[in-house]
Amino acid sequence: MVPEEVRKRVEELRREIHYHNYRYYVLDSPVISDAQYDALMRELRQLEEQYPELVTPDSPTQRVGAPPAPEFAQVRHPAPILSLENAFGPEEAWAWLERISKLLPPDTHLDFVVEPKIDGLSVVLHYRDGVFTLGATRGDGEVGEDVTANLRTVRQLPLRIPVAPDGPQPPPYLVVRGEAYMTVRDFEEFNRRQAEKGEKTFANPRNAAAGSLRQLDSRITAQRPISLLCYQVVAYEGEPTPPSTQWETLQYLRALGFPVPEQATYCPDFACAVAYCQEWERKRDTLPYEADGMVIKINDLRVSADLGVVGRTPRGMVAYKFPGREATTRLLDIRVNVGRTGVLTPYAVLEPVPIGGVVVTKATLHNFDYIAEKDIRIGDRVIVKRAGEVIPYIVGPVVDVRTGEEKVYTPPDHCPSCGEPVTRVSGEVAVYCANAACPAQLVRRISYFASRGAMDIETLGEKTAQLLVDRGLVRDVADLYFLRKEDLLGLEGFAEKKAENLLAGIEASKQQPFSRVLTALGIPQVGGVVAETLAHHFRSVDRLAQATEEELQQIPGIGPEIARAVAGWFRRPRHREIIEKLRRAGVKLAEEAPVAEAGPQPLAGLTFVITGTLSRPREEMVALIERYGGKVTDSVSRKTDYLIVGEAPGGTKYRRAQELGVPMINEEQLMEMIGVRREA
Ligand code: IVH
Repeated sequence: MVPEEVRKRVEELRREIHYHNYRYYVLDSPVISDAQYDALMRELRQLEEQYPELVTPDSPTQRVGAPPAPEFAQVRHPAPILSLENAFGPEEAWAWLERISKLLPPDTHLDFVVEPKIDGLSVVLHYRDGVFTLGATRGDGEVGEDVTANLRTVRQLPLRIPVAPDGPQPPPYLVVRGEAYMTVRDFEEFNRRQAEKGEKTFANPRNAAAGSLRQLDSRITAQRPISLLCYQVVAYEGEPTPPSTQWETLQYLRALGFPVPEQATYCPDFACAVAYCQEWERKRDTLPYEADGMVIKINDLRVSADLGVVGRTPRGMVAYKFPGREATTRLLDIRVNVGRTGVLTPYAVLEPVPIGGVVVTKATLHNFDYIAEKDIRIGDRVIVKRAGEVIPYIVGPVVDVRTGEEKVYTPPDHCPSCGEPVTRVSGEVAVYCANAACPAQLVRRISYFASRGAMDIETLGEKTAQLLVDRGLVRDVADLYFLRKEDLLGLEGFAEKKAENLLAGIEASKQQPFSRVLTALGIPQVGGVVAETLAHHFRSVDRLAQATEEELQQIPGIGPEIARAVAGWFRRPRHREIIEKLRRAGVKLAEEAPVAEAGPQPLAGLTFVITGTLSRPREEMVALIERYGGKVTDSVSRKTDYLIVGEAPGGTKYRRAQELGVPMINEEQLMEMIGVRREA
């Protein structure tokens, strides 16, 4: 008889585990830690062992992962894609050896291969006659999701084997299993870029890799830094026979061109295997990817296969798990950081807690949606995870121990750095501060203002911008025009000459056309092309500043988001101040009087082709030529009157012009034809 409370507990555990599987595998967004998950599974397994009559085919212990999502086509795996039994520490590893040894003929000598257990997601790769034809996720172990198009974008994945011309010939049919993952470094860089763009960031490399591979648009996957390591032949048809040991399998896969784990090693006995696991437990931070343990595999694949499978885990291998790097602590406060691009990022202030030898006092909360989605409240006990070198993050609150004193957090509606109201763009998770004078963003805004394509002040780089901001010499970009030599001479590394060069560069930038000034202001959504459109349409900053959102939207190429951003920008009094200061400085805030209809047309009837890089962007050059009556085409023909040759000219146009005897001129000569030395 099974006691009623056991039956109830088993049901409860299954319900919970099913839910957490769904959060983890389908949503890529777990709400409990791996250790908590393992504990639930362990409890369930123990109860099922004690009361085998409770085991049902749909128990989470009987399968791996989650069913494939309906958005993807389903792929039936050629053989079950199994999972691993865990051993926590050397004792449990030795216990595993003892258990399986009993099932083998006495005195069987075993050797082993030990590999890192990469924390990514399993992928199953099919090759027909050496060509990659199909790739799937693990799914529930029987049926996975067809993510072929996404996997094709993974650079390390061989699309045709052998990769090297002298590699072994592949069999007619080969299925390989591997792990798709993100390196810690790629993950951090990727998350940083996502945050800058106001897009979704991920809690850890595994979720980032999984989220990227399960994209419906493979162009998105293509931009994500996914890596791959392979370790198993799942199916094989043809001659010669596949390798019969794990160690040879790794060599074979490598020879075909698959990436295999560099840290895998051969161990002649079990003591060596355990020692190797312990060695990597100490050195885990030096791995380029996150590993949650090592996998000890019996080297002889026949022996391993003969040992069979229990539930969904093969007896012939075991995961030696590293201790979880997580702890629970109290969330004392949520504070907000303003990034250099104006994105507001919340972070947690924690009661200090040691995790894996480091005292953690802060953790990232990613973005405001994350806090709401996980219902993280100030005062909560939270699970904090520190994985590899990744910044610690909050997995979620421990809801059971809430006292009722916890406070629901409301995201700020004002920037904590400058106090201006914040902006939220629909469809983006990020909250921004769009204030051009926000101190947290000033260095970046100045560098951008001075960059090529904007005001093009070569002598003003990021380092100088930092110095100017640190010394309080500039509070917005317009202040640049009021710098005096005396201000600069006190700065680190600034002697007479350098100060003069900087001032001369700033002075020269006053000649930049209005469209460049508009670009340089860094109005959200306004890059070079939009700036030109606006400049040509309104012709002056005053008329642009008065335009309503509706008027702006009437202009071809200006959508509602841009219209809102532009109108919003000019509504801010602080921005109007910047404009007035720029006006006083003598920066161009209007287009020059149009020359086209009124003025002379020295280029009338002439057709030009441009090759190579000129001193200003191509579109601007084209506009200039057209203003003086000329025409620009893309390729050289008999109708071409002149080829304008810039730096690093393209071969085809140049050669064709030579063949046809088309005269070639440089930019200077073009300016002479127009009759200006330097067009304003
Ligand atoms: S062997 C039949 N080797 O860990 C068992 N798995 O918890 C096949 N993993 O689902 C797994 N690195 O996604 C194996 N070197 C490695 C691995 C590895 C990572 C993953 C794999 C598996 C999970 C098991």
